[in-house]
Amino acid sequence: MVKSNQRDLTEVLSSGQKKYFPSKKVLKNAVVKDYEGTLKKAKSNPEKFWEEAAEDLHWFKKWDKVLDKRKKPFYKWFTKAKCNLAYNALDRHIQNGNKNKLAIIWEDETGRKKKYTYYQLYEEVNKMANALRGLGIKKGDRVAIYMPNIPEIAITMLACLKIGAMHSVVYAGFSAGALRDRIKDARAKILVTADGSFRRGKVIDLKSIADEAVKQCKTIKKVIVAKNNGAKIKFNKRRDIWFNDFIKNQSAEAKTQEMDAEDPAFVLYTSGTTSKPKGVIHVHGGYAVGVLRTIKWVFDLKGDEIFWCTADPGWITGHSYIIYGPLMAGITTVMYEGVPDVPTPDRIWKIVEKYKVNVLYTAPTLIRAMMRYGFEWPQKHKMASLRILGSVGEPINPEAWKWFYKYVGKNHCPIMDTWWQTETGMNMITPLPVAPLKAGSACKPFPGIIADIVGKEGKKVPAGKGGYLVIKNQWPSMIRTIFNNPKRYLKTYWEQVKGVYFTGDVAYRDKEGYFWIQGRTDDVLKIAGHRIGTAEVESAFVSHKDAVEAGVIGVPDEIRGEVIKAFIILKKGVKGTDTLKIKLKKQVRKTLGPVAVIKDIEFVEKLPKTRSGKIMRRVLKAKELNLPLGDTSSLI
Ligand code: PRX
Repeated sequence: MVKSNQRDLTEVLSSGQKKYFPSKKVLKNAVVKDYEGTLKKAKSNPEKFWEEAAEDLHWFKKWDKVLDKRKKPFYKWFTKAKCNLAYNALDRHIQNGNKNKLAIIWEDETGRKKKYTYYQLYEEVNKMANALRGLGIKKGDRVAIYMPNIPEIAITMLACLKIGAMHSVVYAGFSAGALRDRIKDARAKILVTADGSFRRGKVIDLKSIADEAVKQCKTIKKVIVAKNNGAKIKFNKRRDIWFNDFIKNQSAEAKTQEMDAEDPAFVLYTSGTTSKPKGVIHVHGGYAVGVLRTIKWVFDLKGDEIFWCTADPGWITGHSYIIYGPLMAGITTVMYEGVPDVPTPDRIWKIVEKYKVNVLYTAPTLIRAMMRYGFEWPQKHKMASLRILGSVGEPINPEAWKWFYKYVGKNHCPIMDTWWQTETGMNMITPLPVAPLKAGSACKPFPGIIADIVGKEGKKVPAGKGGYLVIKNQWPSMIRTIFNNPKRYLKTYWEQVKGVYFTGDVAYRDKEGYFWIQGRTDDVLKIAGHRIGTAEVESAFVSHKDAVEAGVIGVPDEIRGEVIKAFIILKKGVKGTDTLKIKLKKQVRKTLGPVAVIKDIEFVEKLPKTRSGKIMRRVLKAKELNLPLGDTSSLI
């Protein structure tokens, strides 16, 4: 049995639910000691709260106004201020004594390792920044990045920002088609990729996927290729350049582009309800403020921590909490390129122990996969360095929460279940380490955030009742717009419920004000925490010559949370065989990549539709899961 380091840390509530309290050690270490008091103070004046948070960063010129609401909902934060996100993540530390501290610890599945001090990283970033400038990349240009979780991805992202260019990182699990569409939408001028990577010992040939994508992208002038797995690749001498050659003769000093706080820093595509992903825009100033304040407070950072976020840099979690957050906080970030159970199911716990990780920030799907191997694996490891645990990406079921708390946190590390989105940029609903916790609840809004649960008309619903999760105020790291599509920005987030930010999630609040997030209200799926639109999957299905129409839904899965079930109408005369099912699955994989996990395909004659021709996925789902059909008045 694992022993806690002090008194009983739990209390059973009248509902039978347990509350988990912070240990003495956590209380002593806490950056924020008075939880409720801090929430109250921030709520009384959120702008003041964020203004104080901004003081933690370096500004070339301070702001005139904290928040400009004149062109709602195109809010502006820290108007007229000058800053640079990369400067705050790197250059600042070179001057403030962190120069020789480790910035990145990297390891891959095969056991290769690399370490970078802040100064080494700074030099690499500067060389890359100069090389990019040499290609004519300048402020406002877009650079597409399609790379595994290797240090070169961090170097490239930081270098883009340093010169004022925007990066558009595309998750390396996406297919050539998905990469092509994102490059085209962003009109990126260059692509930075790698030869390949390893996954469960298998070689993933990224370069050929990148080649396939770039074939149809006229805007791409050069492809920079980092050498990672040493695989033999096709090299187009006129277009391709090895990463090392690209930066080799560059100066290790580079001028930082001073940016307006509201200048875009990056675009990151995410799934919505149409088949076209949305390019979410984040900016240099407010994003930095929100991410730095949340990482410091949610994970109790004092400045000497080893922080491991197991996400991929291709998602917002990786942007905010593998790269920018830890580096702005001046701590050490762990990057691991590989799966958590190779060569044995305790690989993840071994890494925690080996690098003395203090904060482990991961996803429910990974916890559930580890649970299946059994508690013996984490129990083999003391993991004495761990102080705080984190979860993100989807609701964490109480069983997974308790397992994580007991066997990984050894009954004394609080779990920060952080609810947030690509669009929010930072943790929004989350406990702080001193908060009493309930297994499966994301606790309360972060200080300075006013969240609510409302009905369609925007009226608050009573405790215990489900409704739409909305954010009622503004926060610095909020999405600014959708790239090239401000109308879609308005429609998606601000016109669903009047006057508030619409998250697309349903939730309820208990009597103590704890939020319980239940999932999406729209046609967005969460597969192993990855966000994917039903419309994108359906369009991938119908790109097969034999499929006429498709309706897809998410069905529960023990490990991944959700997987896809598809209902397909075939062309007249085509037989629905098992071989065709395999072909269709392949087609989706080819179009979208391995993120779209199809569990089952059913061939049907008809799909339930509304009068206007929209597929009623809700009806498909109810039938599949034997749930009540609900309102079917619009069904034809
Ligand atoms: O449904 C919520 C779920 O993930 C969605 C956002 O997905 P994405 O933009 O890919 O960002 C994921 C990482 C920030 C949300 O609308 N979600 C995220 N975190 C949680 C969650 N659902 C429940 N609990 C969470 N902690």
